[in-house]
Amino acid sequence: MMRKILDDIFRARERISPYIHETPVDYSTTFSRMTQSEVYLKLENLQKTGSFKVRGAFNKILEMKEEERKRGVIAVSAGNHAQGVAYAAMTLGIKSTIVMPETAPISKYKATKGYGAEVILYGKFIHESMKKAEELIRERNLTLVHPYDDPLIIAGQGTAGLEMAKEKPDVVIVPIGGGGLISGVSVALKGINPNTKVIGVQSFASPSLKISKELGRLTDIEPSYSIADGILVKSPSSLTFEIVSEYVDDIVLVDDDEIAWAMMMLLERSKTVVEPAGAAPLAALLSGKVEARGKKVMALLSGGNVDLSLLARIIDKTLYKTKRIVKARVIVPDKPGYLNKVLNHVAQIRGNIIDVVHDRVSSDVLPGYTKIYVMFEVAEQEDLGKFIVSLQNENIEVKLIE
Ligand SMILES: Cc1ncc(COP(=O)(O)O)c(C=O)c1O
Repeated sequence: MMRKILDDIFRARERISPYIHETPVDYSTTFSRMTQSEVYLKLENLQKTGSFKVRGAFNKILEMKEEERKRGVIAVSAGNHAQGVAYAAMTLGIKSTIVMPETAPISKYKATKGYGAEVILYGKFIHESMKKAEELIRERNLTLVHPYDDPLIIAGQGTAGLEMAKEKPDVVIVPIGGGGLISGVSVALKGINPNTKVIGVQSFASPSLKISKELGRLTDIEPSYSIADGILVKSPSSLTFEIVSEYVDDIVLVDDDEIAWAMMMLLERSKTVVEPAGAAPLAALLSGKVEARGKKVMALLSGGNVDLSLLARIIDKTLYKTKRIVKARVIVPDKPGYLNKVLNHVAQIRGNIIDVVHDRVSSDVLPGYTKIYVMFEVAEQEDLGKFIVSLQNENIEVKLIE
């Protein structure tokens, strides 16, 4: 099986290279120091349309026969696959139809339309959208571009693996949804060097391939909620299951907190915007779920399409969780000058005020007193203790709200 897929991947590279970027690989001093390994980031978030999906989409469409191309392609997706297919079709002058669930984010809908696709919103869930697509395939004789269950898609995604292999990594970490990406990448890497370790990452919210691999049979798992929408897939295919069973060394699971922290670290340290699914490999490394001490390890950051509102929430929550923003509740006499006193204590530790709220009416506030919530950005976490003690020394009740 390996030889045939590897040949397909080399052929895919020939076919698609005029249309896609060979994305950069960045060495990260910070992550290397944090994990005592040599960490490299494969920046597929900088790929056209912001994810690796164009690789498979171009390979599939370029392989289609002339008469199929004339009729057009169809895909079902509310995410990166939709944009990848729409972009590849537009570039090659082919009509594309994309069916998305009605619940698809407006940004994804607009981006896909922006690439010239006819976007049809149908059903609440992706399997309902799929029903609609089947109807359209029958009516309009369109060719389906499946997100992962297709050898041409797998070969296209595998071209990212050929690029990664040039750096000769010891360990490679790849996110898994339906398994198309890791199938291609693992064959490319192992085909070139069988000693390369390939580790897959899924979300705790959607561990279908991990469980399938452990049970030794294809198993559907209904995903629960996660911010990592790109890797929430109920049913892997028998093709990806077979390849993953053979060539992927291990699959680990990460949660949303670990993903959010990795996203934040990438923003802050590497100035890199990555979507949750794309940050999952780094999350696995930073959380210690992938052990790579002393090794050359490469995380495939598969996409960068994240809504700014979600990004803003992730930044706020992570700042709050790591106590770089804190909310303190103080209870003081309801008299002039007390608010000033509290704010002075914040200033003394060089805290930057974000918000101040007074509460005189809650039942736990005695008459003549007021509760004040002060939210501020902390310059040095170690100074938070000083802030609390200095208020307590003035008999002011203070508590940090978790
Ligand atoms: C950003 C991102 N990463 C990873 C994946 C998983 O890819 P696959 O379904 O081929 O496993 C997807 C799938 O949509 C994705 O959008």
